[in-house]
Amino acid sequence: MRQAGRYLPEYRKMRAEAESFIDFCYSPVAAAEVTLQPIRRFGFDAAILFSDILVVPDALGQKVSFESGEGPRLEPLERPEDLLRLNDSVDLERLAPVFETIDRVKGELPPQTAFIGFCGAPWTVASYMVAGRGVADQAPARLFAYRHPEPFARLIELLTQASIAYLSRQIEAGVEVVQIFDSWAGSLPPSEFEAWVVAPIARIIAGVKAVRPSAKIIAFVRGAGAHLETLVDGLGANGYGLDTAADPAWCCKVTAGRAALQGNLDPLALLAGGEALDREVRSVLRGFEGHPHIFNLGHGVLQQTPIEHVERLLKLVRG
Ligand code: CP3
Repeated sequence: MRQAGRYLPEYRKMRAEAESFIDFCYSPVAAAEVTLQPIRRFGFDAAILFSDILVVPDALGQKVSFESGEGPRLEPLERPEDLLRLNDSVDLERLAPVFETIDRVKGELPPQTAFIGFCGAPWTVASYMVAGRGVADQAPARLFAYRHPEPFARLIELLTQASIAYLSRQIEAGVEVVQIFDSWAGSLPPSEFEAWVVAPIARIIAGVKAVRPSAKIIAFVRGAGAHLETLVDGLGANGYGLDTAADPAWCCKVTAGRAALQGNLDPLALLAGGEALDREVRSVLRGFEGHPHIFNLGHGVLQQTPIEHVERLLKLVRG
């Protein structure tokens, strides 16, 4: 997560040349180059497409911008009638630069390196669309869902259908795995979690697999905690990404080999380095021993992370 990003000087150099972050995501030559940067530098086993989850609202007609140092800004959806401003379906033409990026990366990626595409899950994307920005507890989207459940369900369904079309098209363009990011799933009570997290992701996975039966799909439901068993029973993903708070031994036990698990080193341990990093890497490796496991962080690489710490992590894991 964020293996291409601001902790890399070669990323910062390219980013400084782009008009804006969203233009950067829509520039196939630049986006392909930054996708490949961490592969060239570190030789990771997988590349993740460089883009952002917020290109989907953009392709639904909601203008998206990124204020430097402040994160994303969208024109908020405050009332049910604001949903009328959105298109009826995702404009895949608007996302054509993303598919061209995939094509370019595919031509340059070493054959042994897996290629991962992605989208945001409906709940997480809707939380930005409603609030118009990142809000710690997603209060605006949660209130919208309580006050106007039917319009909110229509927004979630619009995003579900958009995600099926978008991920299927990414697979067609050349990614081998797709990951669905539900970064803000942890703020919902159980009934809302079922309606806005579990059901839509299950529909996306079924929808993608109906078109692409051999598709490999990873669901990253951040903050899902004790819901992991429900997810493994109900989503039908090939892998589950785990956040830093998840206990590997317990997750292996409830998953019982039915899917791969991915995670979950604390990004702050990677930033800190030293003995804490060594200890945490070993504890992740030990925790998943004997279970199909993709080593990863529990959330994105932080901007201040020293490159030598990433090198140390690779040495420990590969050793
Ligand atoms: O390396 C990769 O992981 C691939 C690229 C990627 C980015 N964003 C690049 C990015 C991926 C997979 C994402 C997903 C994403 N985007 C998520 C889900 C995963 C997560 O982190 O929880 C979310 C919630 C977003 C929305 C988003 N994009 C926010 C809140 C921000 C601002 C936060 C910040 O750190 O500034 C972004 C911007 C963003 N997306 C950056 C990168 C490298 C930094 C922007 C820059 O370079 O100026």
